[in-house]
Amino acid sequence: MMENMDDAIQINDLTKTFGTATILNGLDFNIPKGKITSILGFSGAGKSTLLKHILGLLQPTSGQIVVLGKDLATLSPVQLREFRRSFGMLFQYAALFDSKTAFGNVAFPLREFTNLDETQIEKRVSDLLLSVGIKEEAFHRLPSELSGGMRKRVGLARALALSPQIMLYDEPTTGLDPITTKMVNDLIVETHNKNRGMTSIIISHDIKATLEISDFIAFLDRGSIVEYLPVSEFKKSTNPIVQEFLNL
Ligand SMILES: Nc1ncnc2c1ncn2[C@@H]1O[C@H](COP(=O)(O)OP(=O)(O)O)[C@@H](O)[C@H]1O
Ligand SMILES: [Mg+2]
Repeated sequence: MMENMDDAIQINDLTKTFGTATILNGLDFNIPKGKITSILGFSGAGKSTLLKHILGLLQPTSGQIVVLGKDLATLSPVQLREFRRSFGMLFQYAALFDSKTAFGNVAFPLREFTNLDETQIEKRVSDLLLSVGIKEEAFHRLPSELSGGMRKRVGLARALALSPQIMLYDEPTTGLDPITTKMVNDLIVETHNKNRGMTSIIISHDIKATLEISDFIAFLDRGSIVEYLPVSEFKKSTNPIVQEFLNL
């Protein structure tokens, strides 16, 4: 497949088998820079497996993954770990450290991976938390003292701490009530628009939540991309599996 400077991620004929099961079957598509792309599919379609390949946590059985111009197969384990810092990740359960405050959670990657001093860390954490709508009075609360929506905000602030070029959202709205879903969606779009050139990738089986905010939709079904279109065209897809999904 042609190299394209405008792609954040290139997936070239990616196949993954576990034992005799083919989980990803010749995936071949690119994810553009600076856009919001959602990878949708039913549970078990292979979304999380694909995500792990993009992060270099799993190696392909065959095929190639190029992220920000780097062929992941050429990276050493140390380089891979470094590479993962180009990603910010927000998972279904914000996965905060329970024993750390909101502040401590966001400070963690800064303490771990930067040489910022305490004053600089304090400033950066405070900016990050305020930017996702956490007020100062909540900075020193533990996750258990925050609402679900606030935990998502803190998780997002932590994901943004190292200024990632790519944000990955794995099932960001699954299990949330409609109001919190809207809040998280607004936050995703706001984050995307505030950070020039950021590539946002959403992995989800929640089509209603995702359609509204995506530029592109890739539909993954049983290890294959069966449709990949700008969102307006995706809505008009005549693919029967996509139709079934859209009508849920
Ligand atoms: N490590 C593994 N070993 C064997 N099968 C796996 C492994 N990881 C995932 N699978 C299988 O791959 C399929 C896709 O899983 P997954 O990528 O988690 O789907 P999704 O995230 O779309 O729900 C499922 O059938 C799952 O059981
Ligand atoms: Mg999954």
